[in-house]
Amino acid sequence: MMEGAGALAGRRIVVGVSGSIAAYKAVTLVRLLSERGAVVDVAMTAAATRFVGPLTFASLTHRPVLDNVFELDADQQIAHIELAEAADAIVLAPATANLLGQLAAGLVSDAVTAIACASRAPVIVAPAMDAGMWTNPATQRNVATLRDFGYLIVEPEVGTLASGLTGVGRLAEPPTILDAVERLFARAGDLEGLHVVVSAGGTREPLDPVRFIGNRSSGKMGAAIAEAARDRGASVTLIAGAMSVTPPRGVTVVDATTAAAMRESVLRAAPQADILVMAAAIADFAPARASQHKIKRSGANLQIELVPNPDIVAEVGEMPDDVRPFLIGFAAESDDLETNAAAKLRDKGLDLIVGNVVGGPFDAIGSDENKVTVFAAEGALSDWPMLPKRQVAERLWDLIADRYRHARGMAEGAETGRGRRRS
Ligand SMILES: Cc1cc2nc3c(=O)[nH]c(=O)nc-3n(C[C@H](O)[C@H](O)[C@H](O)COP(=O)(O)O)c2cc1C
Repeated sequence: MMEGAGALAGRRIVVGVSGSIAAYKAVTLVRLLSERGAVVDVAMTAAATRFVGPLTFASLTHRPVLDNVFELDADQQIAHIELAEAADAIVLAPATANLLGQLAAGLVSDAVTAIACASRAPVIVAPAMDAGMWTNPATQRNVATLRDFGYLIVEPEVGTLASGLTGVGRLAEPPTILDAVERLFARAGDLEGLHVVVSAGGTREPLDPVRFIGNRSSGKMGAAIAEAARDRGASVTLIAGAMSVTPPRGVTVVDATTAAAMRESVLRAAPQADILVMAAAIADFAPARASQHKIKRSGANLQIELVPNPDIVAEVGEMPDDVRPFLIGFAAESDDLETNAAAKLRDKGLDLIVGNVVGGPFDAIGSDENKVTVFAAEGALSDWPMLPKRQVAERLWDLIADRYRHARGMAEGAETGRGRRRS
């Protein structure tokens, strides 16, 4: 990225326009993006071309508009795949009810769906439709599915709709959509050049071929942390236990569903990591023996002997300084959070610990929100309210990035990355 330029300078952005009356607002959005130095390519559905002519977009971007999936580009390459691979971000605005349904179902019928489906770039979706269409359960389910896929939704606004009725469904204004695109890139850079490893999800300790002892961890917090690190420019490895959410796009995923697999993956990844965030809920105990055969009902009590698992975080904490990453642990405590978190920080050699209370009236496990307190050796560092997990992740990275730079003896904005290890 150019020094001193805005977050969008030189970024390749594909704007996908679908057949909504609000397609005219995409013209303003494309102009705003171009003015900020982004290289904008426009793709249109057939229906979109009924509302705004491709010529309008081509004149603004000085680039061809892709409205036909069977087109090759000047070098005889498949144009939609070229664009999908080149894109730093994809913005679907306006997104029709039909487009949301196609994306959620993985259907590809035109240039817009082809690019969105083929690309690994982050996707921002700005829906626009009649209020009845927006509140329809199928649309809401499709939006929830897209959120699960990691798409960022710019909510439609309340106002007068094309039908003359007032309700929710109006496309967010172009500056609001622009803001979402800028936020996507705004942080890019503060973790640039760093390799971040995040563990997430729960582990499953086998009892027999079909049963396990597990926990309720959803992996949502760890996935949000990995996603936020990705958006801030880090190269990210996600060591994934059992998760109820899809890992974010654009990160390397290593599956590790038992504590033993988690240990092996973490110990292998840690020496290559600059920062390791251990958000996974790793079983403290495992059955002493896993039966080769399914345990049969016998009428008698069944005794299961549990043996302690190795303490993976502590093992990383004990690594020599030249290979030990900056280490962040999590403490889920049912009581006395501060004392327990402080003890864990000290005993396991952590740099920071993120504490949350579990088992009370609010249960962070599986929730989309979380209330955490971050502790360092000198005590609590944060006093944050209950926030969506993605926002918690952003605040955590603000704090971690700052602490990491100090620990590694770097000034703000100074060179980051390996080779600048703590002495
Ligand atoms: C005047 C007019 C306005 C429309 N506005 C919208 C809209 O805002 N949102 C929407 O989901 N569909 C709207 N539609 C319906 C879509 O154009 C239609 O579902 C089309 O098949 C969408 O195709 P696409 O998703 O491939 O662009 C409108 C149709 C007409 C005729």
